[in-house]
Amino acid sequence: MMGKLDNHFGDNASLDPATAQKITSYLVANAGDAGGQRYSSKLLKGVATGAAPQRITELPKWVSEHRKVPDWEWRHKEVRTKANCVACHTAAEQGYYEE
Ligand code: HEC
Repeated sequence: MMGKLDNHFGDNASLDPATAQKITSYLVANAGDAGGQRYSSKLLKGVATGAAPQRITELPKWVSEHRKVPDWEWRHKEVRTKANCVACHTAAEQGYYEE
């Protein structure tokens, strides 16, 4: 993903090389398969090595956690996209998703 920022899901999200390198290092160090994170193995369940989806919303675990959310709710004007985590998980910015 970091190697193709000029086409980031259709947008140009290019960054200067120093910033891109910092973000890449963070992502590599904190990746689900980097170890040390309590929730990682759950999140990676059903994902083959090297085949992690680019979108969190395509992880089998994410899909299964959200299987009961009805279609209309994803299309609600205050949600609009599955990436709008904070619309439903009001404490998402603190990393808290259990409400
Ligand atoms: C339309 C509302 C909605 C949106 C948007 C949404 N979620 Fe959820 N999420 C839910 C619901 C409902 C549940 C199930 C809660 C439950 O069963 O306790 C859930 C469950 C979860 C869980 C499991 C929580 C637990 O108790 O283990 C995680 C993690 C999670 N969501 C992450 C995310 C992330 C990350 C995003 C954004 C990429 C996101 N959600 C977007 C509604 C949403």
